[in-house]
Amino acid sequence: MDLFTTPVARAAELRQQLNHHAHRYYVLDAPEIPDAEYDKLFAELQAIEAAHPELLTPDSPTQRVIGKVLDGLVPVRHALPMLSIKTETDYGEGGAIAFDQRVRNALELPDDAPPVEYCCELKFDGLAINLRYERGVLVQATTRGDGETGEDVTQNIRTIGQIPLKLFGDAPPLIEVRGECYMRRDDFEKLNARQRAFGEKTFINPRNTAAGAIRQLDPKGMRGKRLSFFAYGLGVFEDWRQPATHSATLDALAAFGVPVAKQRAIVRGAQGLIGFHRDIAEKRDALPFDIDGVVYKVNSIALQKQLGFVTREPRWAVAHKYPAQEQVTRLNGIEVQVGRTGKLTPVAKLEPVFVGGTTVSNATLHNLFELRRKGVRIGDEVIVRRAGDVIPEVVGRVPGSWNGTTRAGYVHNFLMPKQCPVCGSDVVREKGDREYRCTGGLFCAAQRKQALLHFASRKAMDIEGLGDKLVDQLVDADLVKHLPDVYALGVQQFAALERMAEKSAQNLVAALEASKDATLPRFLFALGIRQVGEATAKDLVKYFGALERIMQASEEQLLEVDDIGPIVARSIHTFFAQPHNREVIAQLRAAGIHWPEHEGAVDAGDKPLSGKTVVLTGGLSSMSRDEAGAKLEALGAKVAGSVSKKTGIVVAGEAAGSKLAKAQELGIEIWDEAKLLEFLAENT
Ligand code: IVH
Repeated sequence: MDLFTTPVARAAELRQQLNHHAHRYYVLDAPEIPDAEYDKLFAELQAIEAAHPELLTPDSPTQRVIGKVLDGLVPVRHALPMLSIKTETDYGEGGAIAFDQRVRNALELPDDAPPVEYCCELKFDGLAINLRYERGVLVQATTRGDGETGEDVTQNIRTIGQIPLKLFGDAPPLIEVRGECYMRRDDFEKLNARQRAFGEKTFINPRNTAAGAIRQLDPKGMRGKRLSFFAYGLGVFEDWRQPATHSATLDALAAFGVPVAKQRAIVRGAQGLIGFHRDIAEKRDALPFDIDGVVYKVNSIALQKQLGFVTREPRWAVAHKYPAQEQVTRLNGIEVQVGRTGKLTPVAKLEPVFVGGTTVSNATLHNLFELRRKGVRIGDEVIVRRAGDVIPEVVGRVPGSWNGTTRAGYVHNFLMPKQCPVCGSDVVREKGDREYRCTGGLFCAAQRKQALLHFASRKAMDIEGLGDKLVDQLVDADLVKHLPDVYALGVQQFAALERMAEKSAQNLVAALEASKDATLPRFLFALGIRQVGEATAKDLVKYFGALERIMQASEEQLLEVDDIGPIVARSIHTFFAQPHNREVIAQLRAAGIHWPEHEGAVDAGDKPLSGKTVVLTGGLSSMSRDEAGAKLEALGAKVAGSVSKKTGIVVAGEAAGSKLAKAQELGIEIWDEAKLLEFLAENT
């Protein structure tokens, strides 16, 4: 603050800036400034408000804090009832045709009158909320309740970053915005992944989670649950000229800074509605949130008024549904699958059920702990969820639905096998690990498949065309028992496999041949040593130079390498101590895999970033993080994945999160993308 700025003026300016940047970040997903810059402005405002508490306003971005526990939710009578809409359950074209016909009849339009204009929207699957803004400031948020009376949930709603605490521009003295609070699928998956990691109960679906969080008395229940909001209409307003159409009204709300879904369209007649329904059906899986249908609304507000309501439903709107993403079906059995690193996953064998647009007969049960927590038993009716591209899962059971097909008296009727169902090796669960694993290693076909897929993957040996299906065939037919076997196969053998044309077989042999021209870090990474990712492989090569030296290194010597700790050192040492692993390496080299000698050994201090560890976090707009990492490495930097005291520089792109926070905490040098580009330009 300079001498001529008053705290009042500066606070107002900061609020305006912070509200603008929060909108860019939460609503538009397009931040203009790095998080660190936002945090600085935020801290400045907090400091002013602490020094001058009389300046604190309810629309201040500092007031999105988690408040105190409530005794009960307070009922609030809606100034204008929150109605519901009629649902067309005919998934086909019939629903749209019937609605258009009802509208035309009610408006007494002759058959040759032009088609009616509609605004088409998504039907969001969440909780309806009324946001009341007075003089542009959010003063109250209520649930729908019974439509006449809702509940005051202002405290919880204020913590949702997407909901503006103050409207932009020339807001009317009073306006109520209506819309849906929901949880994005990725936020839901993250929440459940964390619950699983901590051994806590998982949530059934995003809808219930969002609704539950908003209606909680203790606002702490909002922690870790990132919610979102889309506006779809209005409640009461004063001194405002509402635009003439519903779609223009939504545009006006968007201009006030309220999130409005971009998937909406103005169409004409039944054919237009059908087109929208079909278009969204195709996009449904790719949307980042759940919808249960689309909503059609007569676009003209004047016509809406003319059409009015029947009982509690408007004649001018209808919901046209899609097949549900959750269904109840019978659990007929549980099979165990062996995945990467030997992890055993219980998979539900279901009575086939149509859910989320396809027929599902297998669904994951994740692990034994979760299965037990949900109390799922073979013979139960279970709830299956398939939404988006997430694999179908069993999210719960229907109480009292067990059909008694298995021995009575047993609480559980499924046990993890003691032997691997694929190779018969012992199954173990290590202390502190939630997962059961097969100990068969590369003896186990399931793990051999994973090892081969990893070996061929892009960042490893990069063998194009060696994918899932082919790997299954090669291992199942015993053509590949050990990694090196793959190099012994010729065009004839590949061409004899299912769905393998002569040309593809030739391409594959060429790709295998090309992969022999490798680099040592890639080869090391490709071996699939536990704990050895790309970065560690590079570190090892940089430090030791040659493969022989890495293979001979003791645990103590391995610990000398920056960023290699005791667990990683032990894993590497154990791997190379196994005669069969040494044999595999010898055979791969005999097959012709080679790399430039001593490529990794560099003298310290001869490049601009030598000796510096750099961590990249957040999104960059001018290049991918991998590209940036490669450029920094070329300048001598060591690129690491996590921030520690040893980190020299953190490059923070858009929406950088915890790594940036940690860097700030440790006082590490932080670069934004502009600074990175400047440095690269100066040094290359
Ligand atoms: S309009 C008077 N539009 O569906 C019309 N509702 O029964 C009021 N919903 O609980 C509703 N997406 O929360 C409307 N694009 C949308 C919607 C939508 C979801 C929910 C709404 C209400 C129910 C309507």
